[in-house]
Amino acid sequence: MNIDPKMDPRKFWQETYEKASPQTSGKPSAILERFVKDRTAGCALELGCGKGDDAVWLAKQGWTVTAVDVSETALGYARANAERNGVEHQITFEAHDLTKSLPDGVFDLVSAQFLQSPVEFPREAVLNRAAAMIAKGGLLLVTTHGSRPSWSWAPEDTVFPTPQEALYALTLDHTRWRQIAVDNFERMATGPKGEKGSVIDTVIALERL
Ligand SMILES: C[S@@+](CC[C@H](N)C(=O)[O-])C[C@H]1O[C@@H](n2cnc3c(N)ncnc32)[C@H](O)[C@@H]1O
Repeated sequence: MNIDPKMDPRKFWQETYEKASPQTSGKPSAILERFVKDRTAGCALELGCGKGDDAVWLAKQGWTVTAVDVSETALGYARANAERNGVEHQITFEAHDLTKSLPDGVFDLVSAQFLQSPVEFPREAVLNRAAAMIAKGGLLLVTTHGSRPSWSWAPEDTVFPTPQEALYALTLDHTRWRQIAVDNFERMATGPKGEKGSVIDTVIALERL
């Protein structure tokens, strides 16, 4: 895939979602479910919510969710997803280009599941700003691709950071966070055309002290 890295993120993601089906798996990200299912529900901020399966799952667990994406089309799909599941009153959908703005608030969970982009995106700066919005005892949960399945748009020679490298790229004050997980997790995944393959998720789960 030939993508201009200088392309405007909103334009890139709008075009991507306009070509995509509104259909969703109806399932949350494996890592979100694993690390959040036993936590007490509170206020969650989801960065890059896409078609909304994670926000819907969180709402069904009792969370009040602010779900953000740069693509209004994705947010439209996510809103319809929430309505189908009867949880639209628990989710506020907000359009933000996260490189320019974030929602206001204090959160018990900030979730960024595959908040990755083939166009230029200062991800660590965005995550650092979002981490500063987490309440004491709250969770920062960041998952990124740690391998390149056949359907990935990542270049073939992509070198994936180790979990420790990903953690240190965040430049957080490590005395103020308890590490719950800084690790790679393997799982079977399905690509956009139904392709099956094993993938690695690189996970940073930190609790605010
Ligand atoms: C790889 S997708 C992941 C979507 C979803 N979290 C998931 O796990 O399926 C990345 C998401 O981040 C959003 N995104 C990318 N750049 C963004 C930006 N600058 N501001 C806000 N959202 C952005 C995209 O629109 C897309 O929905």
